[in-house]
Amino acid sequence: MWLIVILVCFFSYVASVPTNSLVPVQSRNPSYQPGEALFTCSAASWPYASIGSLIQPQVPDEELQSILAQVSPANIEATILKLVSFGTRHTLSSQTDPARGIGAARDWLASQFRQAAEASNGQMTVEVIGYEQPADGDRVLFPVNISDVVATLKGTDDPGRVYVISGHYDTRCSDPNDYTCDAPGADDDGSGVAISLELARVMATHHPKATIVFAAVAGEEQNLYGSTFLAQTYQNNSVNVAGMFTNDIVGSSTGQDGTKDPYTIRLFAQGPPPTENATQAATRLTVGGENDSPARELGRFVHEVASNQYTEMNVSLIYRLDRYLRGGDHRPFLNAGYAACRFTEPNEDFRHQHQDVRIVDGVQYGDLPEFCDFGYISRVGKVNGASLWSLANAPGQPTKVYVNTTALSNDSQFVWQPPIGGAIGVTGYEVVWRPTDAPFWTHFLPVGNVLTVTVKLSKDNVIFGIRSIGANGYKSPAVFPFPLASG
Ligand SMILES: *[C@@H]1O[C@H](CO)[C@@H](O)[C@H](O)[C@H]1NC(C)=O
Ligand SMILES: *[C@@H]1O[C@H](CO)[C@@H](O)[C@H](O)[C@H]1NC(C)=O
Ligand SMILES: *[C@@H]1O[C@H](CO)[C@@H](O)[C@H](O)[C@H]1NC(C)=O
Ligand SMILES: *[C@@H]1O[C@H](CO)[C@@H](O)[C@H](O)[C@H]1NC(C)=O
Ligand SMILES: *[C@@H]1O[C@H](CO)[C@@H](O)[C@H](O)[C@H]1NC(C)=O
Ligand SMILES: *[C@@H]1O[C@H](CO)[C@@H](O)[C@H](O)[C@H]1NC(C)=O
Ligand SMILES: [Zn+2]
Repeated sequence: MWLIVILVCFFSYVASVPTNSLVPVQSRNPSYQPGEALFTCSAASWPYASIGSLIQPQVPDEELQSILAQVSPANIEATILKLVSFGTRHTLSSQTDPARGIGAARDWLASQFRQAAEASNGQMTVEVIGYEQPADGDRVLFPVNISDVVATLKGTDDPGRVYVISGHYDTRCSDPNDYTCDAPGADDDGSGVAISLELARVMATHHPKATIVFAAVAGEEQNLYGSTFLAQTYQNNSVNVAGMFTNDIVGSSTGQDGTKDPYTIRLFAQGPPPTENATQAATRLTVGGENDSPARELGRFVHEVASNQYTEMNVSLIYRLDRYLRGGDHRPFLNAGYAACRFTEPNEDFRHQHQDVRIVDGVQYGDLPEFCDFGYISRVGKVNGASLWSLANAPGQPTKVYVNTTALSNDSQFVWQPPIGGAIGVTGYEVVWRPTDAPFWTHFLPVGNVLTVTVKLSKDNVIFGIRSIGANGYKSPAVFPFPLASG
């Protein structure tokens, strides 16, 4: 009898672990033995539901597979070597020298994005936008132009919905204000810029339903100036940026202690949004929504569409804004009210970031290309490619998503509205859920093309979300329902 209970429990637990979670259960808990970890088992399988199915990874379709197959380590290597050849790309370095400094790098990047856009039949446009940043008494010593190179691939069906990927092309040495020293910036952040450019090149000949923006921004090391300008430009123009990724330090799979992790990428996703007002924040706390910010739902989406054999990567979602003492270009997007996450390599080597190029006691310091793993960067590029393509070809997320909490009930009623801009490409919706202590959605239930549904499962015991489904089978990230208290 006990054996049966234990076996049923074990198998339902194993079945509820998404099959694309490539880390074996045992590696999360080395001492795990079937039957011993009943606590873990019950957490993953309770409550029992007579409805819904287990969530499977969203496998890339043929077009996406071909996009991913085109991401080239050789192109990424060539981009990084060229960026390094500008000597320094410090934001305060020369903007007019044709060979050395950030101006030469900016012009070369603009030319490369324009070359990519030539293959797009007019769908991709390239702009260099920016502003003059005055001296700030900190890391900007004199007025300087901050320039972002922005390639916009216009969506065919829902062009008003925008997804942004960026890397920063500025670099620094040990002293953040030294703008003449050599600052190769191969990993930080030649790697992220190379991914933006490579995906622009590969996707220019394809036709996503929503718009994708491939950006290379400046001023990151001086105070996130370029990304702040970009985020505020979108915000001030009421652009629906439905998701944003920065790739910053995605160049190496080897850590300072020699740890190699060539098939893992970290994705940093913040909890409660910084833009939520006090009422919303208090409600979120009351209903246990701390782990279901738009940024976290974006992170879960990436895990579901991009941890697979086509990217050859495992996405490790980190529940925090960023690493300690560090910042990144996703932050201004979060501050503008957008869902934004940061990709960063799994084990950093601090000898190769923000360091003057030098040898000390036989150890090479500096952010040199010899420490990059171009195959790894191309796999990170595929993770980004799978995420952006899956976002842009899914319908937008439902809006005004609420759970009806007017009266006590054993089941759960939801109401919602179509995505921003209307139900473009929407053929229906799904309710998804997971145990409150599970990291990723475990179950889904298609409910048809409706704007309300009641499911026979108590909202007290799981976290629910609602997502849109397209005719092509693509699914949007889920939206966490806030309570609809009365009426
Ligand atoms: C910024 O760029 C504009 C246009 O090229 C130029 O007129 C201006 O002098 C530049 N500002 C600085 C501080 O270099
Ligand atoms: C956006 O609008 C705010 C508020 O008006 C303004 O302070 C800021 O300079 C604007 N930023 C951009 C990039 O347009
Ligand atoms: C807080 O934000 C919500 C949603 O935007 C809005 O409905 C509500 O009026 C705001 N409350 C306050 C006190 O500003
Ligand atoms: C990650 O993914 C790769 C390729 O899909 C796989 O070989 C590897 O075992 C996975 N797990 C870890 C912990 O890297
Ligand atoms: C919420 O539930 C209450 C009571 O069950 C019901 O009267 C009300 O119509 C529901 N609200 C919506 C928007 O469906
Ligand atoms: C909850 O379910 C029980 C058992 O079916 C039923 O007796 C009770 O009326 C239900 N409560 C509500 C508020 O619907
Ligand atoms: Zn950086």
